[in-house]
Amino acid sequence: MSTIPVQSVTRALRYALPYKRLAALSLLLTGLSALISIALPWPLAIVIDNVIGDKPVEPWLAPLVGSLAHNPSGLIIFSVLAGLVLLLILDAVHVASNFVNIQIDQKITLDVRSELFLHSQKMSLAFHDRRRSGMLIYLINNQGDAPAGLVMTVPLLAEAALTLFGMFWVSSKLDPTLALVSLTVIPFLYWSVGYYATHIQERLTRVRALEGSSLSIIHEAFSMMRVIIAFGREKHEYSRFREQTALAVGERVKITVRQTLFSLVVNFITAIGSALVLGLGAHHVLEAKRAGYPPGSLSVGQLTVIIAYIAAVYKPLEQISFTIGSLQDKFVNLKAAFGLLDTPPDITDAPNATDIVRARGGVTFENVHFNYDGRAGTLKNISFEAKPGQVIGIVGPTGAGKSTLVSLIPRYYEPQLGQGRILIDGRDARGITLKSLRAQISVVLQEPLLFSGTIAENIQYGRLEATQEEIIAAAKAANAHDFIERLPLKYNTILGERGAQVSGGERQRISVARAFLKDAPILILDEPTSSVDSKTEAVILEALERLMVGRTTFMIAHRLSTLKHADQVLVINDGLLAEHGTQDELLAKGGLYKQLYDAQVAAIRQSKLATATAQQV
Ligand SMILES: Nc1ncnc2c1ncn2[C@@H]1O[C@H](COP(=O)(O)OP(=O)(O)O)[C@@H](O)[C@H]1O
Ligand SMILES: [Mg+2]
Repeated sequence: MSTIPVQSVTRALRYALPYKRLAALSLLLTGLSALISIALPWPLAIVIDNVIGDKPVEPWLAPLVGSLAHNPSGLIIFSVLAGLVLLLILDAVHVASNFVNIQIDQKITLDVRSELFLHSQKMSLAFHDRRRSGMLIYLINNQGDAPAGLVMTVPLLAEAALTLFGMFWVSSKLDPTLALVSLTVIPFLYWSVGYYATHIQERLTRVRALEGSSLSIIHEAFSMMRVIIAFGREKHEYSRFREQTALAVGERVKITVRQTLFSLVVNFITAIGSALVLGLGAHHVLEAKRAGYPPGSLSVGQLTVIIAYIAAVYKPLEQISFTIGSLQDKFVNLKAAFGLLDTPPDITDAPNATDIVRARGGVTFENVHFNYDGRAGTLKNISFEAKPGQVIGIVGPTGAGKSTLVSLIPRYYEPQLGQGRILIDGRDARGITLKSLRAQISVVLQEPLLFSGTIAENIQYGRLEATQEEIIAAAKAANAHDFIERLPLKYNTILGERGAQVSGGERQRISVARAFLKDAPILILDEPTSSVDSKTEAVILEALERLMVGRTTFMIAHRLSTLKHADQVLVINDGLLAEHGTQDELLAKGGLYKQLYDAQVAAIRQSKLATATAQQV
């Protein structure tokens, strides 16, 4: 069928390779199950033909029943026991194959989900800027099980095919015409499956996108809880969610109605098949009866066998067509999952990249240009050189490009080829492996992002193998130890998802402790104290000064007073390096830096004046 994406399917099947033994076992059980279901209707046929009727036992059956062949009560007991044993074995086989299949299914799902998770973490920040994380969650969780689902249709289809083939073979021995008649439905089934498959795929893709959007709303709402509460927008978010989800629900309902209608068509076709076989079969038996049952003619018991086969064969046929219908769903998911896996990470190691063991900390920008997707001139022609151990102050208006500039150093984003380069200790950063490059750099951001674990775990994140003593030493250096000791559970205090249990300044000190533990030669501080009060700022700054010792530090400063120790200052304005020099040089120059400086001095004087006036009153 043209709607089967062969490549994706073979790729999905390859996920079963690590579980070859389980898969072989599964197929073996499948074969067994097919074999038993072929034998299943025979005990009833024996009762009808050889016990109630007076037909002699068939030659192939004679060795099985032995001396019971001429003993009706014996034959009854034999048939009843045989039927019972067959059913019991069939059930046992089903239990065993469920056990095997669920393992294959879950293991493959785990493999695919982990691969998707790993891969999405390799994607650059630019990629994540473009994608809504709710969509990624949906993809990893709800679409990551598609390869396993596809693999699991193999035993299903194999069983159906085996049963079909086996039963057709037996039936054609009993009554070839009847066997052929039972096959007449197959072209109709094939046609209806094809029709369905081509008409459903587009709808399935659409419903997936709608369902993903709903999940995005939930994800965003939970990460924005504070804002939602502050603005009292719970109802608004609720309606947003409901409206979006209602769209998805509507589409789902439509699709399910179609799926059910499709099963109805399939059931109708098979019902016609059954009716044909029953009518024609009864006719054959009647003819045979009139002729006095010549050898090779169809008996009543054998007709029941064929009728039972028809029911048994059509069921898997219906199942195959349903499976093929639901396969479309899996194909859509496969495409999404493989689509993500095939999106190459845009920032990767160059083929000849090598590790850097421990950088001395020299950082050079050479004519660096950068712009975000769809924007122009975020950074234009930036050049400067930071010597190992220097402190580089970076100032400039909001949106000038300061954060962007420092995020190029660990290659969170990357200038396009030919748009300048960044050197670490004189080596092009592109020639250094990402992992070792990022190991050289500690980052403290304006908003301290902490995990929902304990304080100790959060600090330890800087170096996973750090001991308890080292964690405490780092906390002490970050001026965090004292406040942590005052908490009832101390280092074992569990932080809420967004670190809600401690104040902003305290969280920032935890993130400084984390940076201490990492002990990297290059330090990036992106307005680390801009969201705390000036008293807390002093405590954090003191810790940061300790942290800067012996490291090349890039300090984006919100208050110029925090740049006391800067060896050079970069003034960024509208993506350009507007001024560059020591603070004294820049003040003497009387340019943008001087303006910013004067404005801040005036502001401080004013607030001091205001405080003084307030105290006088
Ligand atoms: N992830 C992003 N995608 C697109 N544009 C961005 C992104 N981050 C920042 N920008 C834009 O780039 C410019 C520089 O931003 P940024 O470096 O954050 O400035 P600063 O840190 O100096 O305030 C701004 O115009 C900002 O809107
Ligand atoms: Mg910024």
